[in-house]
Amino acid sequence: MKNIIIFGAPGSGKGTYSEAIVEKYGMGHISTGDVLRSEIKNGTEVGRMAKDIIDKGQLIPDELMIRILAKTYDSLPEGQGVIFDGFPRTIAQAEALKQMLQERGHDMGVMVELIVDEQTLMERLLRRAQIEGRADDNAETIAKRFAVYHSQTEPLAAWFEKEGIRHTFTWEGSKDQMLANIFAFLDTLK
Ligand code: AP5
Ligand code: MG
Repeated sequence: MKNIIIFGAPGSGKGTYSEAIVEKYGMGHISTGDVLRSEIKNGTEVGRMAKDIIDKGQLIPDELMIRILAKTYDSLPEGQGVIFDGFPRTIAQAEALKQMLQERGHDMGVMVELIVDEQTLMERLLRRAQIEGRADDNAETIAKRFAVYHSQTEPLAAWFEKEGIRHTFTWEGSKDQMLANIFAFLDTLK
């Protein structure tokens, strides 16, 4: 499978649909949020630095994030395709990803954008808070994450549009339907 950049607001289902895609197509998966949470759990220097930032709903500095991403990408087996979940989140990260892949003779593949209304997002994240207890899943931090998404990440959609690889999928109330639409598109790529 080609590389896939899964893109969307907090709670839009990046992690959920990535898992389903990995199961069906057997590719690699990099969730930068999961990488950072694992650094925090292991008490590393990066983790200590990331914790404060994540708890405030802000973004980790581009330079550090790009380094972490490249290192994680290089640790995966080559040739199976990778889903990038939660990266890129800024124009600088997008430019860096494009360059990093070019240097390795790979390309960005396709961008899959998940569009979900904000009330549904908030409900999902508050529900997840009760189940998983993620530190950044409280109403105040979620609102900050939405604001950061709108100001720093959403403008990237136009960047992907210009690259000619943006494909949007809009939530209409059914997870099965959303997944079927995504699979139908990905099946055309094989
Ligand atoms: P990250 O972990 O990427 O969080 P996020 O973008 O806020 O997104 P979430 O993981 O909360 O949601 P999701 O879209 O994966 O949805 P999910 O499938 O879980 O990043 C966390 C933080 O790390 C950032 O705020 C930042 O500080 C830092 N960071 C990470 N990457 C960075 C980067 N590149 N640069 C700088 N900083 C970075 O679904 C949500 C919930 O909804 C789940 O519980 C799911 O089960 C449920 N759900 C219910 N119905 C559905 C449905 N129909 N479809 C999908 N999910 C559903
Ligand atoms: Mg996620």
